Amino acid sequence: MNDPRIIVALDYPDAQPALALADRLEPSQCRLKVGKQLFTATGPHLLESLMKRGFEIFLDLKFHDIPNTTAQACRAAASLGVWMVNVHALGGRKMLEAARDAVAGTSQKPRLIAVTLLTSMAQQDLHDIGINATPAEMVLRLATLARDSGLDGVVCSAHESALLRKHCGSEFCLVTPGIRPSQASLDDQSRVMTPRAAMEAGSSYLVIGRPITQAADPLRALLGINQELENRGAV
Ligand code: C5P
Repeated sequence: MNDPRIIVALDYPDAQPALALADRLEPSQCRLKVGKQLFTATGPHLLESLMKRGFEIFLDLKFHDIPNTTAQACRAAASLGVWMVNVHALGGRKMLEAARDAVAGTSQKPRLIAVTLLTSMAQQDLHDIGINATPAEMVLRLATLARDSGLDGVVCSAHESALLRKHCGSEFCLVTPGIRPSQASLDDQSRVMTPRAAMEAGSSYLVIGRPITQAADPLRALLGINQELENRGAV
């Protein structure tokens, strides 16, 4: 598979279970997401171990700082050889442009995407920090800002994919968590979508954790989802 659409979330406390899971998957079938907990516990060494196994990495550290600091952090991530890195769009246009310029000058330019609004932020949480727009308005506004600042895409809910695809264009990368195959447990996710429905709504990549990492046979679960995606459009 040239460009696997599934990014498996390695939500583990340390390297051992993360590598054990990676050893049960196939780099041709997925990419891997390393987030704050795992990266803080293991450092870049884990990324090297995963990349040596052939996996491309989404480094999900959601940088948010003054423009210069964010740019340097993105450059450091690029020098680790990751495939994708992200920042918070709430850092503003100057920060987003600095991050974009920082990765543009690197030899293996990673895709740079933005988090719009954390899905944990409801209307009251916005009100508490002095924002009177609705969460949906903020998502659209921040995604548009990310696109206008030259970023490659955003993280978004599949429920936002159709709208963002329409507003941000066909090239904009929409990376979507909250995915559950139809028979899978919801875990702590509330607004979920199936892999196929999310792709049909316009998502580019799907971040999937527990339906694969907790499966008795993770590779089989992954292949099953890829099969479902490949059959899109088939009767
Ligand atoms: O196990 P599950 O499929 O729910 O994992 C989803 C992954 O996507 C986790 O790493 C989670 O932190 C991340 N995520 C999410 N919802 C968001 C943003 C990120 O579930 N709004």
